[in-house]
Formats: sequence, C-alpha cells, structure tokens
Amino acid sequence: MKMTGNPVESGNIAAIIKQLGGLSSKLELANDQSPESKLYSFIPIASRIVVDLNLLEYIVNHDKAITSEELASLSGGEALLITRLLRALASVNFLNQVGEEVWQATPVTKAMASEGISAGIRVIGEMVAGAASKAPKYLKEAGYSCPTDPHDGFMQYALQTKLTSYQLFNSIPRVQKDFNNFMGNTLGARKMWLDWYPIEELLNGAVPDSALLVDVGGGKGHDLVAFHKKYPNKGRLVLQDFAIDTIGDLDPAIEPMYYDFFAEQPVKGVLIFISPPSPIPHLFDARLCFNTLGARAYYYHHILHDWSDYKCLEILKHVRDAMKPGYSKLFLHEMIIPETGASPIYAMLDITMMCFNAGMERTERQWRAVLETAGFEVVKVWPGPEVGSDGMVEAMVKE
Ligand SMILES: C[S@@+](CC[C@H](N)C(=O)[O-])C[C@H]1O[C@@H](n2cnc3c(N)ncnc32)[C@H](O)[C@@H]1O
Repeated sequence: MKMTGNPVESGNIAAIIKQLGGLSSKLELANDQSPESKLYSFIPIASRIVVDLNLLEYIVNHDKAITSEELASLSGGEALLITRLLRALASVNFLNQVGEEVWQATPVTKAMASEGISAGIRVIGEMVAGAASKAPKYLKEAGYSCPTDPHDGFMQYALQTKLTSYQLFNSIPRVQKDFNNFMGNTLGARKMWLDWYPIEELLNGAVPDSALLVDVGGGKGHDLVAFHKKYPNKGRLVLQDFAIDTIGDLDPAIEPMYYDFFAEQPVKGVLIFISPPSPIPHLFDARLCFNTLGARAYYYHHILHDWSDYKCLEILKHVRDAMKPGYSKLFLHEMIIPETGASPIYAMLDITMMCFNAGMERTERQWRAVLETAGFEVVKVWPGPEVGSDGMVEAMVKE
C-alpha cells in the first residue's frame, strides 16, 4: 500500500503509531531495547489467562476503578497472580493502573472484553501461539523453508496430528465456536468493502435469478448479512462453508450451503433444456436450451491467506470452472502487504498465517502471480483504505 501525504494531517492513526515506534527505537539504546523485546512474547499468554478469568469483563463492567482483591473475589483467582498479570498488560497499555493494585478500563480494555475479541484471544492463544512455540524446532528439522502443506505445518507438528488446522478446529466445538465469533469481528472499527467498493459495478449487469453474491468460506455469514442490510433484495445471496452446521441462526435472506472449496463449485452455469430430446439417436442435440450464468460474483474473504500457493491454485481452479467468462467476478478480500515497510499488523498476521495453516499474507505482486497462474486476469487491486484494513483484488476469467 502506498502511504501518501502526512499521516498526522490525514488522521491515519496506524501510520502515526508506526512512525512513533520508529522514532522511539531511534531514541532508545539498541542494547536496552533488544532484551526487552524478547519479553513481549508473554503478553498473549497473560491476555489469555486474564480472559479465561473474565477479568477484563469485570474491570469494564465496574463503574469505577477496581482492586486486585475485588477481582480475586469475583473471579476466584489469587489477588497476587491477578496483580502480576494485569501489571504486565498495563505496561503495554491494555488497561490503566490507577493506584497500587487498582485497575481501570480504557477503550482498549473494552474492545478486548468484547465477545469477538475475547474469543480471538482464546483461540489464538490456545491453538496458534501454542503451535508457534514449536516453529523453531520444526524449521530446524525441516531445513528452514516456509511450511506449505496444511497437513504438515507448525500446528500439526505441535499437536501431533495430520488434520488441517480447520479440520482440527472443527473437531473441537468450543474452539470452532470461538473461531466463528472471532471471524465476525476481525475488522474492528475499520471500514468494510461496502463502504468503499463501487457496488453499482457489481449490481449493474447482474442477471436476475442467477446468484448475485456467493460468499465462499463465509463463516457465520456476517459479510452477507452486512451486504443485505445495505443493499436489500438485489439478488440471491449464498453462504458456503464446510462448517455450515456450526454457524447458528442465519438471516432468512441468505441461503446457507455446505461446500468444501476443494471440490467442484455447485453454483455454476448449467445448460437447461426446455424441449424434449430428439427421437433420432446420435443426432446433434438441437434442443432448445439456455445456459444459466453462475454467480455474478464469488467472494473470498480471508480465505486464500490461509493457504500456500499450491493450495490456492486448487481452490481457484474450482471457482474458475464455475465462472462465466465476461460476466462473473472474483473478489479476494484480503490484506495487500506493501512491498516495503509493512506495518506490524500486516507483518504479524503473515507470521500468524504461517503458524496457523501454512498460509501467507501476500503483496500485490504475489496476488497477481497466483491469479495469473490460475488463469485469471486481474481487473483491479484496491488497497485497503486504512493501514491494517483489507483490500480487494478483483479478477475475471482470462478469455
Ligand atoms: C479465516 S475464516 C474466514 C471467514 C469469513 N470469510 C471472514 O472473513 O470472516 C475461513 C473460513 O473458511 C472455512 N473453511 C475452511 N476450510 C474450508 C473448506 N475446505 N471448504 C469450505 N470452507 C472452509 C472455515 O470454516 C472458515 O469459516
């Protein structure tokens, strides 16, 4: 992503924070900073314990500041343990310490206490960070190259399984529930694609009765729900996921569909015959027929970043086969990492994807390479409107 102009003038908070970080590292002595940075790996662990004890909720729901003793009697944890954990989190501004063993919520604490973010802290802490701790050993044994096989990545090594991370999550209901809740809340306060993508380009030219938008791997359907809210009754909305039975209640405007995206895409153009077959065998079939179109758009939000290139090519083959050239659009709603100077959120999410499912966040050059190999033509790349937000890669079948 190209950052233009002065971030202070443009109000780009993430860019300002990044510049302040750069400035502080110049001011600190290198040999002070490097030992400190090694200690930060405990922050996700402390966050997870604090979430397990519901401490953030207690702090947020308490009208005024709250003591460690009060938190101990509410949570059942030891006051000394609570003080030590909260002190660590206050040191990185996740909450305020307003006195000796006295704590107060900030907007960050409120966000962390919300259901979606707490679910994310649990699932990342338990599954992904656990796998990450085994990465050095895995890489030493495997010869220091990025994992690409989802049956043989860090998670599989750490947990001694050959299931992909998704199959594994799916087999543990509480983890799957947390994951679905987390996925509904990954954008935070950032803008959605519906706030900046020219939706009329999707709606204009869409053929009534064919599906308008298929959300592939759409989780609990939050993106289609938002679409329907902003653009009601514009066409069929189809939600596909292989964990469709775990999503709970769904808006009746959306069609749920079980689908494994490593198999043939069922929402596709088909020939429909509207006259009987010829009575003469082997005669050229000249029956009256029409061709349905497949969907106007297939939308993949945070899907391909979970997979290495060769798995992306398998996924893309199935959607390409279902798409009507010149009509169907492919949307990849993903982070587009700048080629240089990536912000921590992009860089850290990339490593998270490596740990999670041998996946990868990609730069524009890398997205174009995968799509071109898969037989697509990139129509346009939309960088996310803010640092840390998702962009869009729009493509069509190469004719
Ligand atoms: C990272 S989540 C993204 C969810 C949603 N699109 C979003 O952006 O919030 C990936 C989704 O892909 C689904 N998934 C994983 N493997 C799948 C497969 N083989 N076929 C279909 N869905 C799959 C998961 O169940 C999950 O809902």
